[in-house]
Amino acid sequence: MAQEVGRDVQGIGLAGQMHGAVFLDERDHVIRPALLWNDQRTAAQCQAITDRVGTERLYQITGNPALTGFQAPKILWLRDEEPEAYAALATVLLPKDFIRLRLSGEHATDVSDASGTLLLDLKTRSWSPEILDALEIDRRWLPPVYESPLQAGEVSEGIASELGLRSRIAVAAGGGDNAAAAVGNGVVRPGLASCSIGTSGVLFAHAETLRPDPSGRLHTFCHAVPDRYHQMGVTLSAGGALRWWRDVVGRSDYDELTELAESARPGSEGLLFLPYLTGERTPHLDPRARAMFVGLSSRHGLAHMTRAVFEGVAFSLRDSFEIMKEFGLDVAQIRITGGGARSPFWRQLLADVFGRPIARTVADEGPAYGAALLAGVAAGVFRNVDEACAVVQLGPDQCDPDAGRARLYDDYYSAYTRLYPATRASMHELNGLAARDPGATPE
Ligand code: XUL
Repeated sequence: MAQEVGRDVQGIGLAGQMHGAVFLDERDHVIRPALLWNDQRTAAQCQAITDRVGTERLYQITGNPALTGFQAPKILWLRDEEPEAYAALATVLLPKDFIRLRLSGEHATDVSDASGTLLLDLKTRSWSPEILDALEIDRRWLPPVYESPLQAGEVSEGIASELGLRSRIAVAAGGGDNAAAAVGNGVVRPGLASCSIGTSGVLFAHAETLRPDPSGRLHTFCHAVPDRYHQMGVTLSAGGALRWWRDVVGRSDYDELTELAESARPGSEGLLFLPYLTGERTPHLDPRARAMFVGLSSRHGLAHMTRAVFEGVAFSLRDSFEIMKEFGLDVAQIRITGGGARSPFWRQLLADVFGRPIARTVADEGPAYGAALLAGVAAGVFRNVDEACAVVQLGPDQCDPDAGRARLYDDYYSAYTRLYPATRASMHELNGLAARDPGATPE
């Protein structure tokens, strides 16, 4: 059966978590475990990049400031901290592109994922010689960059027979998980945004032209649609905060957590949660930000705390939404994807906190579905991404905001936005104390 299905496959698309650094030697062997998107160890290297390139120039070329999760500072970290591994370096890949290497033997990447390295010139959609020179990063370490729906490799004979595929089918350049999810959600034109709740939480808006956020709070990257861009805000711990809380309270599944949250009143009776468990990107760009419950009183129990975790993640995503509005990127509808999309509770909560309808697509594979559509273009099934996205269908279960709850959440959100500035110094101080403890548990 698998063999028969495999014979129908026309192309393969790839999507993966962004920003990671897979370090390979000259035989394409992995040198050390990859550093992932939420790894925060590169603050010193981000400073060095900013000093070398200059804030303004970095922004003009890459559209973004140097952030700890991005790939470039990880390469410099390897140089500073693991010189032996660095000496063996021959190629740096993004995570999904390592899968491509295994499938096809090719080194390649796509513009949307390459944007998250901080080495791409967003205007030319190619590696920036100026940044590479300034950071002394060898161009030969980086793979060729393609527009997302173009073919970038074909499945090798050996892998094809192992997977029951026809030989030589196209591998599309593909996309970073968020750009691919946007394609899977049909977010390929102005006025639409997608929201993904996985470990991270992302609000992603399509942009017709390149217009980076001068404050750097929103990331500006190439879209998986040729010549288009996107802007997105990232909450580092979204589903990740729920997983942490589930483990802390010893629950086995998310349904139980959702039931607990539903049993508490909206607003959790005056309790707020800041979800900065692994630092935060949007809007604070602060790897040393830390999480907290604020407003605890003797009236609060497990249900309130659980609801506050969900609400805190939603408020954090609203931060991104507010910056988008400041930026003139107001959106009429938000399409949700990721594990959170399956939960009616999450969908209604986000509708109430954003004050916008939340829809979801019938296909719930998110980034994988978008990657498949890109593969369809690479294989010639569709002429372009717009045509591919015509197959995207919305489900009948759109959640509209409830006016009363939306007003209540406006007030809670306003209180939420004042907490980080008021507690930033204490967050950093506590983070510093933990870092000085030789017996501290690794994060
Ligand atoms: C986006 C980001 C995350 C990862 C997670 O900038 O860091 O969404 O892509 O997979």
